[in-house]
Amino acid sequence: MTKIAVAKGDGIGPEIMDAVLSIFQAAQVPLEYEFVDMGKWVFDKGFSNGMTSEAQQTIENLGILFKGPMETPKGKGVKSINVTARKTWNTYANKRVFQTLHGVDTVFSKAGIPIDVTIVRENIEDTYGGVEHMLTPDVALSRRFITRPGSMQVIKYAFEMASKKGARRITCGHKANIMKLTDGLFLECFYEVAKNYPDLKADDVIVDDLCMKLVTRPDTFDVVVLTNLQGDIVSDLCAGLVGGLGFAPSANVGDHISIFEAVHGTAPDIAGKGIANPTALLLSGFSLLQHVGLYDKANMIENALLYTLESGVRTGDFGDRSKPAMNTVEFANAVVKNFGKKPEHNPKPDMADHAISCTVFNLSKNAMMESETHVSEKINGVDLFIESNLQPQEIADKCLRHAGVKFKLVNISNRGTQVWPTGSKFTNLVNQYNVRFESIDEHALNQQDVIGLYVSLSGDFRVCSLELLNTFGDKKAYSLAQGQ
Ligand code: NAI
Repeated sequence: MTKIAVAKGDGIGPEIMDAVLSIFQAAQVPLEYEFVDMGKWVFDKGFSNGMTSEAQQTIENLGILFKGPMETPKGKGVKSINVTARKTWNTYANKRVFQTLHGVDTVFSKAGIPIDVTIVRENIEDTYGGVEHMLTPDVALSRRFITRPGSMQVIKYAFEMASKKGARRITCGHKANIMKLTDGLFLECFYEVAKNYPDLKADDVIVDDLCMKLVTRPDTFDVVVLTNLQGDIVSDLCAGLVGGLGFAPSANVGDHISIFEAVHGTAPDIAGKGIANPTALLLSGFSLLQHVGLYDKANMIENALLYTLESGVRTGDFGDRSKPAMNTVEFANAVVKNFGKKPEHNPKPDMADHAISCTVFNLSKNAMMESETHVSEKINGVDLFIESNLQPQEIADKCLRHAGVKFKLVNISNRGTQVWPTGSKFTNLVNQYNVRFESIDEHALNQQDVIGLYVSLSGDFRVCSLELLNTFGDKKAYSLAQGQ
């Protein structure tokens, strides 16, 4: 029997987890549970990452965590346990399935428009690295990491999943028209992987247009893959299309460890009342059962859930308000009573029990993800970020004195807009400029040259940060300022 780790979580977590496990037990799901200590009370005991070392060890040994929502204490300087867990264990793909559930009324269900959208969100990188600095008291900077290996991992997962589920279309959501290097890299990886799936229609949509299309024609989308922050926003939008967060399941999938949880939080306003809706956690449980190969159990319980919802059974947060609401335990019992029944809409097939397919590898050291792309690297110049209240021409006059024999001053920008050598007096300024120097004769520079310029410029300005201007192969690996 497969053993999984279970963390009940905080707030409504224990109530909905008990309800889901009671349904699993009634369905004789062949899983064993090892309960682990994670969440608010573990933070309160002084564990800064919100889990005990025993819990971490158990999850790493078993490879699967089924978790209730958890509260991250505010104002204690600790990081979200949910984000920490996803990042620590490299669960790089966040899969969220949003389907029309008959009995859960939405504008789309009332209009007879079916929804079946799977969002795959990159789960580790992007601004979620949380690498942020104040460059001046007025200027905050967030670093957005998009890497080739990280993008390839999640995009390969999305294509493989889409192909296995018989998807008709896979779409990349992005903002590569603005973020040409970061989103551009993600998009490039998408089309690189697409070459291996000629039978799958692969296309891309700019993320703002994607949001508009999802709310006007959600039935035209099938699988959508996005970077982390955009995926976060778009998946909550999709939750709204099918009835809200109470119906939004989530699987955080990695090569070694996977985490299954509902999208919603601990619902402190209703915690302890026994009235929470366990559907999202139950839907996440189906993903877990499929992950370990228990398709027949997943389908049997899902059919019972869909039948239950169709018959008008509801908890207080949804459904026909003129009918009485059930509490969490009554709702779970109603699902159990409907085992063996088939819903009228979207019944799941009875499938034979697959062999358990989950393998847990015990890693002895961190896995290094290396790009297969090997290109020559050359330093062309440097962007120096300086703090100053001077006007652009005054800054240029000082900078020109520091350029020396190796550098030329190319341009100065403020919040990404060029303000020197040309610019507009209508461009408002903040007290932090980006001063761009390039090699005077196209010759490669070295790090000592750059540090020398830094030291020289620091005689006139406080230099807050620097970025090298690299060329990789024949490609310039940096953006131009607007207006440059
Ligand atoms: P929330 O999702 O907990 O609640 C938002 C609203 O939805 C509330 O009115 C709540 O009563 C309702 N709701 C949520 N789940 C429900 C359910 N199953 N049945 C019926 N109603 C439900 O979001 P909120 O209030 O922003 O966050 C509360 C706490 O949860 C915070 O500490 C937050 O950090 C944590 N959280 C944890 C997550 C996780 O563990 N994955 C995800 C999101 C938030």
